[in-house]
Amino acid sequence: LNSQEKIALTGIKPSGKPHIGNYLGMIQPALALADSYRAYYFIADYHALTTYKDRAILQRHIYEVAATWLALGLDPKQVVFFRQSDIPEVFELAWVLACWAPKGLLNRAHAYKAAVQANLESDRELDDGIHAGLYNYPLLMAADILLFGTHVVPVGQDQKQHIEIARDIASAFNHRHGKILSVPEALIGDETNVVPGIDGRKMSKTYQNTIPVFDEPAAIRKQVMRIVTDAKSPREPKDPDRCNVFAIYRHFADQTAVERRLRDYRNGGLAYSDIKQELAQILEDRFAPQRSIYESLLADRTAIDLVLAQGAVQARSLAKPLMAKVRRAIGIDK
Ligand code: ADP
Ligand code: TRP
Repeated sequence: LNSQEKIALTGIKPSGKPHIGNYLGMIQPALALADSYRAYYFIADYHALTTYKDRAILQRHIYEVAATWLALGLDPKQVVFFRQSDIPEVFELAWVLACWAPKGLLNRAHAYKAAVQANLESDRELDDGIHAGLYNYPLLMAADILLFGTHVVPVGQDQKQHIEIARDIASAFNHRHGKILSVPEALIGDETNVVPGIDGRKMSKTYQNTIPVFDEPAAIRKQVMRIVTDAKSPREPKDPDRCNVFAIYRHFADQTAVERRLRDYRNGGLAYSDIKQELAQILEDRFAPQRSIYESLLADRTAIDLVLAQGAVQARSLAKPLMAKVRRAIGIDK
């Protein structure tokens, strides 16, 4: 296969407004990849059910994520863009995969392990408050990937383990049934490249430390001004590699500005408030044209619904034959 025929697939959970960590870590690389792969990108709405039980919130996030991708340049003529929930074969395959996945594999998944750890640290029962949806999350994700014969999955570093789980399950299934499932590769930009949030931890909707791509300029500026730094005075030399502001700035400022700021950090003469103001302005200018597209998409959802409905048809036409093969292999066909 040349890469034009290979499939790139990725999903994003509608669990909040997409932020610049999502943009740099996944959305931008995925959009670039669509030039050389057949791209299938989707909204993992059923994955978000592990987090959100409120109907209105989940609905809002689904449309925010759809509008974000489209405003950032996803071209529905080039990329098959769809909702996970429109593809019933995903859930059918998830069950089949569950019967091939050792339970121990899921015991070791990061999100589940972290929830168990939190329980143990607060003297609660091991599985207290943990539902089977969280536990089975990696299985559903494996089905998302394997159902489409995916070759590459562009994701941020934090999703690496999930791709490995999908690979393990696919290999176990193929070992028994022949090469039915394609074993996917994770495509992770720069392994060390996790964008920090305003508190210095990984930027994540879970930690409420994000800078959403399409927030109002005033809200973005407020978040940028709150980025945690050390307490050095402007005169003192500083280490750019340990600065949460610079970690974001270097991705958005042009090359000469980055070099100038690097000298300011190292030689002294940089006030954090200045570079924060500059960063806020750069983010505002960079995303202003797309922000108006984003807002008009959200104001009238018919355009989004149309794109996703077409995407669902195209995605299912790829999913159905693969699911049929799986059924045949396991003996469920008629
Ligand atoms: P969040 O942690 O905010 O809930 P998601 O889990 O929805 O983000 O991640 C969506 C995609 O964006 C994934 O591929 C993930 O690896 C990537 N991503 C999320 N946060 C970051 C970050 N801070 N830096 C780089 N990539 C990220
Ligand atoms: N778990 C991913 C995340 O939280 C979202 C996701 C669901 C996904 N299914 C996927 C990513 C399939 C890549 C491929 O970011």
